[in-house]
Amino acid sequence: MDFKGKTVLVTGSTRGIGKAIATKFAQKGADVIVTGRNKGNAEIVAQNLKNEYGINAFGCKLDFSEDIPQQWKEIEKAAGNVDILVNNAGLTRDTLFIRMKDEDWDTVLQANLTGTFKITQLVVKGMIKKRWGRIINISSIIGFIGNVGQVNYATTKAGLIGFTKSLAKELASRNITVNAVAPGFIETDMTENLPAEIKEKYLEQIPLGRFGKPEDVADAVLFLASDMADYITGETIHVNGGMY
Ligand SMILES: NC(=O)c1ccc[n+]([C@@H]2O[C@H](COP(=O)([O-])OP(=O)(O)OC[C@H]3O[C@@H](n4cnc5c(N)ncnc54)[C@H](O)[C@@H]3O)[C@@H](O)[C@H]2O)c1
Repeated sequence: MDFKGKTVLVTGSTRGIGKAIATKFAQKGADVIVTGRNKGNAEIVAQNLKNEYGINAFGCKLDFSEDIPQQWKEIEKAAGNVDILVNNAGLTRDTLFIRMKDEDWDTVLQANLTGTFKITQLVVKGMIKKRWGRIINISSIIGFIGNVGQVNYATTKAGLIGFTKSLAKELASRNITVNAVAPGFIETDMTENLPAEIKEKYLEQIPLGRFGKPEDVADAVLFLASDMADYITGETIHVNGGMY
């Protein structure tokens, strides 16, 4: 795989899965736009990638709870057009449905779905002009199997699958593919604080006998962005050790 000459924007790439995706693209020669809610953190990650892999890397602020068009303007000014967009940013606000507050619902929908809708609409304009683009959305196994305490999160991750399939149909004639990756249980900050007995229960359900690493997810993303996946669109790759 060689991504020289391509610019990749990965949302939420200051840590976890997003950072692993940005790093793998940098290893394969892509220029990378690292975005985070904290500009300073994004700049540090970008600088490290630049030093390590000799690519162009930009650290930019992109917080979905703030003005997205304004932040995109700044990103575009700094880094130019985007060839590959990875919609990775996401969060959880877990609680049982009966106790779920409007704020728990709104915060998760806004970050995981509305933010993705808005940034994709802005980025895709350049792809349409170039008649080439790759969009990869990070969904979740929870969007397929559901989970106690995650009605809000599961709704957004299932929603991203509908988003992926519909957008794939709309953009196919412009040579833009849109696919999803649905991770299972991946060891990151998002899963770190789960109680040990819950982790143990998850592990029992994973035929491959281990939790996933952020790099496992990144490998699937790079495949979907590569020439090897030119004829794949509207599809989901499950990266879950056989859990689903
Ligand atoms: N870790 C897992 O087991 C797992 C499983 C399935 C799917 N996922 C998905 O993978 C993606 C990455 O998760 P992770 O495990 O690396 O978690 P993480 O919490 O380490 O990283 C999430 C990233 O998203 C960013 N983010 C969150 N809310 C945002 C907002 N409102 N605006 C902009 N950025 C925001 C964070 O700043 C962070 O960089 C998420 O979409 C998550 O739902 C994770």
